[in-house]
Amino acid sequence: MEDRLGLVKSTIKGYFDDLNNPIFDTFRDSFSFGKMLRSKLIFAIAPDSTLSVRLCAIVELIHFASLLHDDVIDNSLVRRGKASINAKYGNKNAIMLGDILYSKAFYEISCMDSRLSQIISNCVLKLSLGELEDVSLGESFNLDSAKYLQMIEHKTAALIEASAECAGILKGEKGDKYRIYGNSLGIAFQIIDDLLDITQDEKILGKAAFSDFKEGKTTLPYIYLYQKMQENEREQLLSYFKQDLDSKDKDWIKAKMDKYNIIEQVKEVVSNYGNKALNVLDYEDSNLALIMKDMLDREF
Ligand code: FPP
Ligand code: MG
Repeated sequence: MEDRLGLVKSTIKGYFDDLNNPIFDTFRDSFSFGKMLRSKLIFAIAPDSTLSVRLCAIVELIHFASLLHDDVIDNSLVRRGKASINAKYGNKNAIMLGDILYSKAFYEISCMDSRLSQIISNCVLKLSLGELEDVSLGESFNLDSAKYLQMIEHKTAALIEASAECAGILKGEKGDKYRIYGNSLGIAFQIIDDLLDITQDEKILGKAAFSDFKEGKTTLPYIYLYQKMQENEREQLLSYFKQDLDSKDKDWIKAKMDKYNIIEQVKEVVSNYGNKALNVLDYEDSNLALIMKDMLDREF
């Protein structure tokens, strides 16, 4: 797998070379590759081929472009264990670099089979709508778990689902089974991400911890917590919304999460999505079952 991920990285470097732009070149060394979950997923489905490597490179570029914009929108200063691009070079550069990466990815996907370019371009539309929904939900304390699930399905699951479906097509299949699997994997991935924001620390996460609530994101643990709380506790939780919390406030929230068994309740939801994904798989898809398991067990 490492060899194949190396090929994806060198393909991306080749795409950067194609840009042939000295200004762009001053920024490119600050980019870092993340966990490359989407590439691992594509390689678990698609045959070993140049087309699969190119699909991975395109998907990673789109993912990275979306994070460049997301960090501006969320005003996040740390990403992948380093200062975010907006923290290092300012919002204007982060936005323009996101546009460049996305445009290059768009050009490259347009050179591939039109079924792939349609799936990928449609999923970018969904993830952009998902980000819009995320920002809109963040304007007030959101108690509607259906709205939260719809938003993460767009913001996160769309690209994971599209990656799996395109990989299925490269394998010569229709891709439906992989799309359904990718959808549940993507939703489970984001719920875990939102859980880790509360339970994990910055060093391990590679980005700021306990930042969702401050950014106005009422993620599933907060929705469930509010539902279970007594009136005086609810008032206190609401007073923390969008505020800079000190360690005492964070400990209070964590203690209430413990008191009401919220983490377990959220893990149960995640595990239901996991089972939904596993149910569509066949005997020969054991590597996809393993990806799902690793994702459920992940700590960052
Ligand atoms: C991270 O969410 C954000 C996303 C998964 C999607 C962001 C999408 C866009 C900005 C629109 C598309 C833009 C382009 C250029 C293709 P998060 O903030 O919950 O996660 P985090 O904690 O990792 O920041
Ligand atoms: Mg963010």
